[in-house]
Amino acid sequence: MIEAINPQGLNKEKKLQSALLFVKAQLKNETDTLANLANISAVINMYMEDINWAGFYLMKGDELILGPFQGKPACNRIEIGAGDCGTCVREGRTQLVDDVLALDNHIACDSASRSELVVPIYRNGEIFGVLDIDSPSLARFTELEKKYMEDLVKLLEPSL
Ligand code: SME
Repeated sequence: MIEAINPQGLNKEKKLQSALLFVKAQLKNETDTLANLANISAVINMYMEDINWAGFYLMKGDELILGPFQGKPACNRIEIGAGDCGTCVREGRTQLVDDVLALDNHIACDSASRSELVVPIYRNGEIFGVLDIDSPSLARFTELEKKYMEDLVKLLEPSL
């Protein structure tokens, strides 16, 4: 097992960098996708402040199904095009949502969520799933988090 360093005292960007270092070490040490996704959701939860949910939805057939996560129990299945996650799959690009309540089709798994970041994950050019992170604060996620989470997904993709 790899020990994640204590994030206390690190600034926002250093925490994100530390999360990526953990992910690199995790992927070097383990090939099992379920174990990797579980530990990656845990490390995002540990290194990102002010979030209430972090985890994965994975494509099975023509829908997204809940994968490893940290946070309150969440909806099990999401149709493509539904909610921020289904929109991410349909559009094939990251969704940076400042105010989830301003969207018509947001799916509220945790009523505390106010902003959301969803990054698509690909395997061999095909959609594999999404990384989804929720915050109880409006506009919690910026280009900084978008960049680091997209980089994290790029590290993860070759292992899938
Ligand atoms: N809000 C997401 C659903 C998943 S939960 O946030 C964990 C959406 O609209 O797709």
